[in-house]
Amino acid sequence: MDAKARTVALIRRQFQQLVPPTAFRLELDDGADADFVADADGPGSPHRPALPLICLPDVQERLFAEVFADLNVEENDPPARYAFAVLKKINAAIEAHAADDVEVSEDILGALVGLMSAVAGGAGVSTDASPVRYSFDRPDGGEDTIRISEVRTLISGFGSTGLRTWEAALALGEHLLAGHGPQVAGRRVLELGAGSGFVGLLCSKLGAASVALTDGSPEVVGRLAGNIAANGVANVSAGVLRWGAGDEDHAVPGGVDVVLGADLTYDAVLGALLAHTLAAALAASPRAEIVIAATVRSAETVGAFEAALAAHGLSHTHTVARPAPRFFYYAASPPIRIYTVAKCI
Ligand SMILES: C[S@@+](CC[C@H](N)C(=O)[O-])C[C@H]1O[C@@H](n2cnc3c(N)ncnc32)[C@H](O)[C@@H]1O
Repeated sequence: MDAKARTVALIRRQFQQLVPPTAFRLELDDGADADFVADADGPGSPHRPALPLICLPDVQERLFAEVFADLNVEENDPPARYAFAVLKKINAAIEAHAADDVEVSEDILGALVGLMSAVAGGAGVSTDASPVRYSFDRPDGGEDTIRISEVRTLISGFGSTGLRTWEAALALGEHLLAGHGPQVAGRRVLELGAGSGFVGLLCSKLGAASVALTDGSPEVVGRLAGNIAANGVANVSAGVLRWGAGDEDHAVPGGVDVVLGADLTYDAVLGALLAHTLAAALAASPRAEIVIAATVRSAETVGAFEAALAAHGLSHTHTVARPAPRFFYYAASPPIRIYTVAKCI
């Protein structure tokens, strides 16, 4: 892929992931995209043009054709207000170079005007689910996409936190794709607190033998069926598994090779329950590898999780997730830790 195609892919992938307009990048970044695809005329080369590539007429044409020609705002795909905000940002970035004889294309202007009237006509902030697409380059070549129905506007309360994909899940996905995590191809994966199912669905697409998506919220589990179906994967199941001890909802299955979880330690009480379930998972599958991604929102909650691990006879090491994701865009702050958990020896 040349730099123009990569720029269009960068914008398409962020747009389909509903990356907030404030965080949306319009230009390739040397550090972030260094291994996105390296090529001779990429950013950082001596031939890098002074103008942002989105100013070029052929790039605008491709951008419109690949990203903005077939919006379906009636179906919230994407939400009209979101699409309008992104196009406004693109429009402003191109107009900033008007002195260089650069113009916004008729197609892009037309899309912007159409979205403006959709928003003015009442298509506003929606609490409905939106289709979100996470595209990535497969390690064996070609692009693949994880499709998830997400509600981005509900973010608090047991149950509703699982209706969207969180940054720690994206960071864990990057970690697995970079080959830093446990091997998932050909292995049996259990995801705890799966929420939207992003991590487990990625494992399935990377060739996992089976994936059990679990969550403590029956509502979240109920919605997982739709995400499994949308991805056309046959080896993924969904069920209730609530951390802690007590009834059958807490039973951890055996026969698991890899246990994964993301953004599960946002509350000190949850960290303690999770540590209990991780110990139970290792009792049921002694050779399982456990990797948990945790957003460090407060030192207290991750500290409570680490203390709870120790109290259950579990050791841990962690790395910090890469600050510049290649495919699944998330902010560098707050930092995200990728924990590897094992039995103390
Ligand atoms: C912040 S969300 C993370 C979802 C997903 N892993 C992600 O990163 O996108 C936390 C998830 O943990 C689930 N959860 C919270 N408490 C739980 C418990 N006690 N047992 C099992 N799941 C729980 C929630 O229902 C929610 O889906």
